[in-house]
Amino acid sequence: MTVIRAALLGFGTVGQGVYEAIKTHQKRLQERLGKKVEIAGVLIRDLRKQRSLPKHILVTDNIEDILAIDDLDIIFEAIVGNEPCYTYLNQAIEKGCHIITANKAMFAQFGTKLLEKAKQHRVQVGFEATTAGGVPIIRTIEQLLQVNKIEKVEAILNGTSNFILSEMRKNKLSFPDALQLAQERGYAEADPTNDIEGIDAFYKLMILSELIYGGQPEWRTVEKQGIRTLTSEKVQLAEQKQKRYKQIASLTKKDGKVLASVKPILVNKAHPLYHVEDVDNAIKLETSLIGTFTLQGPGAGKLPTASAMVEDFIYVLEKDKSIKQQGEVVYS
Ligand SMILES: NC(=O)c1ccc[n+]([C@@H]2O[C@H](COP(=O)([O-])OP(=O)(O)OC[C@H]3O[C@@H](n4cnc5c(N)ncnc54)[C@H](OP(=O)(O)O)[C@@H]3O)[C@@H](O)[C@H]2O)c1
Repeated sequence: MTVIRAALLGFGTVGQGVYEAIKTHQKRLQERLGKKVEIAGVLIRDLRKQRSLPKHILVTDNIEDILAIDDLDIIFEAIVGNEPCYTYLNQAIEKGCHIITANKAMFAQFGTKLLEKAKQHRVQVGFEATTAGGVPIIRTIEQLLQVNKIEKVEAILNGTSNFILSEMRKNKLSFPDALQLAQERGYAEADPTNDIEGIDAFYKLMILSELIYGGQPEWRTVEKQGIRTLTSEKVQLAEQKQKRYKQIASLTKKDGKVLASVKPILVNKAHPLYHVEDVDNAIKLETSLIGTFTLQGPGAGKLPTASAMVEDFIYVLEKDKSIKQQGEVVYS
């Protein structure tokens, strides 16, 4: 049986999740691909940290070592920030590797360029994990909504802020106490700015905008409002009126212009996002043929995010295989 050789960029929450998912689901992967999947190398930043990885896996802080691995087929990228990540992925594409990324900040900014470059080099890019973690929203849009027109998106794209709002409502916590609880549970970073100021949801919304409308609004025109100003009193008052604050990312197109915003919105019981609680994400799509439907599930975390990446793995390899079998290049 031949082997598919993969490397991981990053071995934090997501990188470890991908490693674990490949290990625990090796048999299913082999059945699906007809090949064994081998993690040949792992790129990290700090070589002094202890990692529970077998000796035969190359662990390095130098991307050149990863790119020098013989017959490397695919790279899973789960590091943080735009650079050096964008440069590394460019190098990987030039080497002829398929790439699968979870990095929303980088992909919101450079996704189009990476897809273009991948097309030139005849490799595939998977980015399901960038948006809504384990909820398969990218593939649903890309593959299952090719004829439907998506008229509007309303989504909860940040589990941390949703958790904070849920705690403020259910347990009457103040914003600082709910944030502290989110940090204690590992849902919020030590610096929670991106989550609570709507920046993380904004990146995901821009990725959806590119996918649905083929472009993004100018970033500075998008209204971004965080949840920091919501007090426990406001949340309780809304509760008395049977309404709930949800941090909603909205996207639509009017008169040829993409309109987007991320802000707390009061929704009533009839709204599909009203019941989305804790760290869940949900995406409500208004479409021309189906009508309105909502996808909901774990929007982050080790295994849900790894799930999106390993499912991408199958998709990317099968797409590549089908293109090669056709003997022509048909990229979406
Ligand atoms: N966590 C989630 O639930 C989740 C969900 C969806 C998407 N994402 C995205 O996935 C990516 C990874 O998130 P994470 O939570 O796994 O982060 P994390 O736990 O902080 O892990 C980051 C990993 O990347 C490595 N790294 C960072 N900068 C590097 C550099 N310049 N060169 C080489 N390695 C570097 C770190 O190395 P060291 O181990 O040596 O520090 C670490 O192993 C982020 O872009 C995030 O937005 C995360």
